[in-house]
Amino acid sequence: MSDAQPTLVQQAQDAASKLATTVAETLNISGSPGVTSDASGLPKLYIDEKAGSDETGTGAELSPFQTPVKAYQSLTPSTSSDADPTKVATFLVRKADSVERNEWVELGTSGRKKLIKGIELWRKKDAKAAQEGERIAKEKKDAEERDRKRREEAKGVVLVDDESKGVAKKTKLHAVPELTGTRVRLQGWVHRLRSQKANVFVVLRDGTGFIQCILSGDCIKTVDALDLTVESTIELCGSVEKVKEGQNAPGGVEVIVDWWKLVGKAPGGDEAFEGRLRADTEQSIRADLRHLELRGETATSVMRFRALLLRAFREYFHKTRVTEVTPPCMVQTSVEGGSTLFEFEYYGAKAYLTQSSQLYLETVLPSLGDVYCIQESFRAEKSLTRRHLSEYTHLETELVFIEFKDLLDHLEDMICTVVDALLADPVSAEIIKTLNPDFTPPSRPFMRMDYCDAITYLKEHGITKEDGTDHIIGDDIAEAAERKMTDQINRPIMLMNFPKILKAFYMKTIDGRPDFTESVDVLVPGVGEVVGGSMRISDLQELMDGYKRTGIPHEPYYWFTDQRKYGTTEHGGYGLGVERLLAWFLKRFTVRECSLYPRYMGRATP
Ligand code: 4AD
Repeated sequence: MSDAQPTLVQQAQDAASKLATTVAETLNISGSPGVTSDASGLPKLYIDEKAGSDETGTGAELSPFQTPVKAYQSLTPSTSSDADPTKVATFLVRKADSVERNEWVELGTSGRKKLIKGIELWRKKDAKAAQEGERIAKEKKDAEERDRKRREEAKGVVLVDDESKGVAKKTKLHAVPELTGTRVRLQGWVHRLRSQKANVFVVLRDGTGFIQCILSGDCIKTVDALDLTVESTIELCGSVEKVKEGQNAPGGVEVIVDWWKLVGKAPGGDEAFEGRLRADTEQSIRADLRHLELRGETATSVMRFRALLLRAFREYFHKTRVTEVTPPCMVQTSVEGGSTLFEFEYYGAKAYLTQSSQLYLETVLPSLGDVYCIQESFRAEKSLTRRHLSEYTHLETELVFIEFKDLLDHLEDMICTVVDALLADPVSAEIIKTLNPDFTPPSRPFMRMDYCDAITYLKEHGITKEDGTDHIIGDDIAEAAERKMTDQINRPIMLMNFPKILKAFYMKTIDGRPDFTESVDVLVPGVGEVVGGSMRISDLQELMDGYKRTGIPHEPYYWFTDQRKYGTTEHGGYGLGVERLLAWFLKRFTVRECSLYPRYMGRATP
């Protein structure tokens, strides 16, 4: 078809378009291409009510406007005062109903009147807009002038840090509510900032608390006051007063500032703190800005709670005579299998970051008795889930001369005691109330569920494996199924007696059930497994069989094996993921929120 002759219609259209272009090039009267003039020299402006366009039209016959007003505007500015637009141009209109007839008719009397009205309206609107523009420009100029003057005056305002107003007691913010009537000296970061005509309200933060400080008079007239930004560090003196009835401020007090100085100014404008982290900030940017996120109220609460949780654990262990030890992080043996080991070169030899300190804890049972550690463990997890980290805080305990039942009772007692302690402490209790108001402490005894009963539960409740089939005895219960079951039961569960084939080389088997182990996972709603523990093999030969069964060479473990040689005994222990327990306590969506600087696949910054 490419060599077909053009039709007559196409030829006519081409000719018309060529003619229009020539006319446009030769007679460019109004500046719009293609606009021609009539016999008296007035530009002829074409208006097509149906096919014209006020946006793209030029007024030429082949590019008509849609309205006469727009056609007129193409010729004259709004400030022009022509009374009769038809003296400026000839308006040729094609009515909506005459397109087929290709009839261009000069604008009639009523059309002209309408056009004049339209032009008047346009001129008025434009004049108003111009006035508004002038008003805004003036206001801006006045504001700039006022600002310049204020700055000029501000240069002369100097606040003097003297003791004439009374000796200021230097204190941290947490103590301020106890100091009503005292002049205090405070240092901190501007957490929140609100300016009114006569006052500037600063909520100060110093890591121990928040205090509202009110600046007024000369205190808001200095150059620093004019430029004060959120997250700047300041020092101030002022008197502590109780807030008025019906008003709210942290601790029920506020500081009426009489002197202050800027210590470190945080940027404003594009780099202002408030603009860098917002509710809709994308996840990876949020992760890059973890150092700034940690200044936020939620992250601060989680980290403060974390510290109190660790303290509660330590107090529990201190009271129950379990001794804290610090095992090494650089090791040359695995505990939980080779697939999640982080390997590195150690003076020419292969070494790993520890997966668990369990084996080292076992070695000191003969010297220290019951022991625990709170130590980082490392897992080269190959997937991104909301409960897996590459580095996590692992609380591990080994208890000697115990039976499996003692281990279960200990776990229950430890978790409940720590929960009670955190609910009794006013600071941690307040954080739980804010972040997880529906938290209910677990009731004793915890549900104890045999692995085989869990398989029956999953089958009966239609919780299948990832491939859609039912679980059978011997199957590993995957994370999703385990969580579904725990969420349905909605209370902590001690899931016990896992098959030997699923578990590590060191786990003791159950007397009379040689295919199952004395093992336990503590599962909690919303998170799943928070604790993994077991009784350990105490018999030397059984341990040697364990190495063999799991394909682990026993030689590097000589120091662990020796425990079975030099005075063996029954013992057991567990590991608890601190971030997972925190996620449960404070109802955090992911364990990442519970770590200071979380590490997970692909992230080790900042
Ligand atoms: O079940 P796991 O692998 O057990 C051990 O490492 C034992 N050697 C511990 C012992 O008996 N001393 O890990 C114990 C706990 C899990 O229940 C979980 O809470 C946590 O450690 N955990 C993780 N937490 C965050 N990210 C990960 N990748 C984790 N892997 C395990």
